[in-house]
Amino acid sequence: MAERLQKYLARCGLASRRKAENLIQTGRVQVNQKTVTVLGTTVEPGRDEVRVDGKIVVPEDKPVYLLLNKPKGYVTTVKDERGRPTVLELVNNIPERIYPVGRLDLDTEGLLLLTNDGLLAHRLTHPKHEIPKTYHALIQGYPSRATLNRLRQGIILDGKKTAPAQVRVIKNLSLDTLVEVVIHEGRNRQVRRMFAQVGHPVIGLKRVRLAFLTLGKLKVGEYRHLTKKEVERLYNLIS
Ligand code: URA
Repeated sequence: MAERLQKYLARCGLASRRKAENLIQTGRVQVNQKTVTVLGTTVEPGRDEVRVDGKIVVPEDKPVYLLLNKPKGYVTTVKDERGRPTVLELVNNIPERIYPVGRLDLDTEGLLLLTNDGLLAHRLTHPKHEIPKTYHALIQGYPSRATLNRLRQGIILDGKKTAPAQVRVIKNLSLDTLVEVVIHEGRNRQVRRMFAQVGHPVIGLKRVRLAFLTLGKLKVGEYRHLTKKEVERLYNLIS
């Protein structure tokens, strides 16, 4: 829903409505990189990019940003036509209409962001921004050095080479290996397919990091709100 720019700025905690009008009239406000000086201008929160003195501003009240430690067995959608539990069922008392940023498979655990901020969600998942995502994968068998190098350099999935990845062995177990993988794209079931292709199927997969965000002390199934600083840091990564 469109909102008047001065009201939007006031919601960002920047200024009273009156001061916000002054910011606009003195040419300090940009909408989608264009300076706006007309007071009647409206913006679409979550879609338009609003800056004051060149810095992106985000409303303080409405947008919600959650970091969830997703358990296995939950689908990363808002609704599942097959009636399986969704990640939204793990989140209580959030009146806003939030949705997941990107996707983790049904059987993947770990770090998942949920928000109602469409701009952030769109940009974080856009391959252009190359947001690093770190996974811990338990794979069958022991990959050779050559296999690890193939994964690092990129392998062909769906006729297209994967971007270079960081891959390191964390631990050799009796029959399996725990590896850490950092990828910068988010193709469908990418980590599972990369390892399947080199003959080491994934038995367990957990996302442990997204950009600078980690799970910290969150237990499986728990979530927390991102801090304003964290949201600003995310915006700085994608603007
Ligand atoms: N790669 C996968 O294969 N699955 C995920 O859930 C995420 C990345």
